[in-house]
Amino acid sequence: MRLTKEHLDRMRHIEGFPIGKDEDIIELSRPPYYTACPNPFIGDFIKEHGKPYDEVTDTYHREPFAADVSEGKSDPIYNAHSYHTKVPHKAIMRYILHYTEPGDIVFDGFCGTGMTGVAAQMCQSPDPQFKMKIEKEMPYVKWGARKAVLNDLSPAATFIAANYNMPVDVEEFEREAKRILSECEKECGWMYETLHTDGDGETSKYIDGKPIKGRINYVVWSDVFVCPNCSGEIVFWDEAVDKEKGKVKDAFRCGHCRSELKKRDCDRASEIIYDKALKKNITMTKQVPVLINYSVGKKRYEKTPDEYDLDLLRRIDEMDIPYWYPTNEIPKGEKTVEPIRLGITHAHHFYTKRNLWVLSYLHKKNQINKTNLLVFQSVVAMLCSKLARYNMGHRGNGPVSGTLYIPSLIAETNCFKVIYGKIEAFANAFNRIIKEYNVYISCSSLTSINIVSESSIDYIFTDPPFGSNLMYSELNFLWEAWLKVFTNNKPEAIVNKVQKKGLAEYQELMERCFVECYRVLKPGRWMTVEFHNSANSVWNSIQEALLRAGFVVADVRMLNKNQGSFNQVTAHGAVKQDLVISAYKPKETFKRRFLEQAGSEEAAWDFVRQHLGNLPVTVESKGKLGIIQERQGYLLYDRMLAYHVVNGIPVPMDAADFYKGLAERFIERHGMYFLADQVNEYDDKRMRMEVEEMQLSMVVADEKSAIQWLYNQLSTPQTYQEIQPEFIQELHQLRYEKMPELLDMLEENFLQHEDGRWYVPDINKASDLAKLRQKRLLKEFEEYMKGTGRLRVFRTEAVRAGFDRCWMQRDFETIVKVAKRLPEKVVQEDPALLMYYDNSLGKVEV
Ligand SMILES: C[S@@+](CC[C@H](N)C(=O)[O-])C[C@H]1O[C@@H](n2cnc3c(N)ncnc32)[C@H](O)[C@@H]1O
Repeated sequence: MRLTKEHLDRMRHIEGFPIGKDEDIIELSRPPYYTACPNPFIGDFIKEHGKPYDEVTDTYHREPFAADVSEGKSDPIYNAHSYHTKVPHKAIMRYILHYTEPGDIVFDGFCGTGMTGVAAQMCQSPDPQFKMKIEKEMPYVKWGARKAVLNDLSPAATFIAANYNMPVDVEEFEREAKRILSECEKECGWMYETLHTDGDGETSKYIDGKPIKGRINYVVWSDVFVCPNCSGEIVFWDEAVDKEKGKVKDAFRCGHCRSELKKRDCDRASEIIYDKALKKNITMTKQVPVLINYSVGKKRYEKTPDEYDLDLLRRIDEMDIPYWYPTNEIPKGEKTVEPIRLGITHAHHFYTKRNLWVLSYLHKKNQINKTNLLVFQSVVAMLCSKLARYNMGHRGNGPVSGTLYIPSLIAETNCFKVIYGKIEAFANAFNRIIKEYNVYISCSSLTSINIVSESSIDYIFTDPPFGSNLMYSELNFLWEAWLKVFTNNKPEAIVNKVQKKGLAEYQELMERCFVECYRVLKPGRWMTVEFHNSANSVWNSIQEALLRAGFVVADVRMLNKNQGSFNQVTAHGAVKQDLVISAYKPKETFKRRFLEQAGSEEAAWDFVRQHLGNLPVTVESKGKLGIIQERQGYLLYDRMLAYHVVNGIPVPMDAADFYKGLAERFIERHGMYFLADQVNEYDDKRMRMEVEEMQLSMVVADEKSAIQWLYNQLSTPQTYQEIQPEFIQELHQLRYEKMPELLDMLEENFLQHEDGRWYVPDINKASDLAKLRQKRLLKEFEEYMKGTGRLRVFRTEAVRAGFDRCWMQRDFETIVKVAKRLPEKVVQEDPALLMYYDNSLGKVEV
């Protein structure tokens, strides 16, 4: 199969089409499996292997699933090629095994290095120990390969993913790669030689009258600073590094005038160099070699560079590299500011001359054999560049992950050594993945993935970009410079000042990506979204984007060692963990009914019914029967409310009526609600197991979380005197929150026994209380409606209640007006306020 210019012409207009010449895109691709542009062959792949969706005959049912996402981080497959963040394939396998059957099609639209594809294939041949473990924990799974469709905006990421996922003759790969490398060594090996000395620069080791030569492992290059007092040059390594302790000193003395200095007091020395590639003089910060780590035989030594070493560098400098290497200008970005500031303005500036030489040689030879390119490429960008930091023997040298930080002590690594190691690592990894042509990979923006047809995918696992965490297109620049095809960052879903993308733009892009996920997923199927530790506002953007795309969230789980469930009421400042979101696409029949009866109570109960049907019936936690928060009234209410709001439909009832109706229609156990056909299973288990105590590691930050906390505490009635000290201890009130007194909250939400102990009211009384409270909150909200200036301190619950009512009355203008007077951060960090604001914005003229 060939990828032709005609193919490219048909796809050029697609948003996110990569930046590069046609011939380079074609050169990089391995059609039909991988194309370094939107993959035109995916449609045929799905047609051939997909099972068409038919709602009438479809019997698929799964409960949401969450498992540790860090399992398998020491696996050779995971480690062969690093990426800025990566989910190990072993972790993903559990999800795929739970949600799919052999032959199903899995999709990952932000695939990075393609671990979802590896996981899909490995379901055929897992390593035996892992298989045994899974069979014990998940006895229902069916082994056998799944198919996968992978996509990422970045050509570098998809290229790595392709190499991980496509069959390769491992022996041939290893032989070829080593052959090319040893040929290269014949040409360039001398560049990494040094004289074996006694360490003080005097050549002292000879054999048969000839000096013994060592093989350089790495050379440490040090920054040079200028003393602000005497303008003398200070070699950072000489003055500021305590070699015995292996530490940089906080303060050091200028070698010329002895004044005491800190690094931040000094400017870097720079030098003017003639750049042969750019054919002009350039200014770069100055670095000098200060330490050589080398081997003679198997033994390692260290020395200060001597005249031989400096002469060697001079000789290399005078020569011309006879091969192509990338000279692209580094784009302006948030992370690229750092190298550009130091004069590293073009791709080739990231390398010392000898490393650039070796890499360009390998690039030329690797053009003939693309598999080797992966090894070459994986090494080039980071490990053999000036990004590699000398770690003073503490750990291995290497780049600071997620940055383009040029350290003050660079470890210039011997390329041969690194690449030999990597060839072996890849051969080892490739040997473990039994690969057939089960995976198709596309390089496109998930915002427009028309190449994947509607309702064709059986399961989605994805690990999206999170706000301003990582600037993928900037970080992938070096890889892509060697591949000659670059990320088109226009639809890149990140928060980035240089790209002029704030949280709102990020959310919009994420929503468009999730809309596509929703479109391609079969109804009734699941999507798992991995959420990395990030800001609350980003967490809320993701949730909002998911909802607006049409997904319903059924479970959010915190995946730390305790595997606790994530308390959604207390999200403030709590998103410090990796979270896993399980969301489903409702069935078509439900959606149709819901929209036909939009705004009626019946439609709302229909939503609850189908949602309960998608929730787990029992979960076990540390040998006890766990509490499923999603089945609790307040979350069911939130979900029902959100589904109405994102569909632009008025909510037919308030919380009090909802709780009452819930108790009338569904069966309650331990504060959770069940369908009639679910409750037996729960009761059966309940007879055999103890129910866990609700463990709430929650932050009491505002009125809502305070009430939730009180609800849990007062499951055992307590007096004010008993509860007050504990409450004070838990309280971390938000600056803007106008929190009612504890006693007022007790009176508004709870009832009191004659002996003075407060308790949780039963549903009918709770409903009456809720109505009263609602009235008070709305009265307070009316005050907020009157003013025009900024609201600095307010009762968030009153704003929520007010927005609830405004939405019911379709008074979108008031929502927008009041929201604009609140601090922006508060709206961004409160899921309910954000939801109302976002959805009202589209309905009023601003
Ligand atoms: C967290 S990483 C995925 C890492 C992956 N799970 C792995 O194991 O290697 C997120 C990815 O989203 C990609 N990305 C950002 N915006 C995108 C868009 N609009 N469409 C597709 N991919 C995008 C980035 O290039 C990045 O590779």
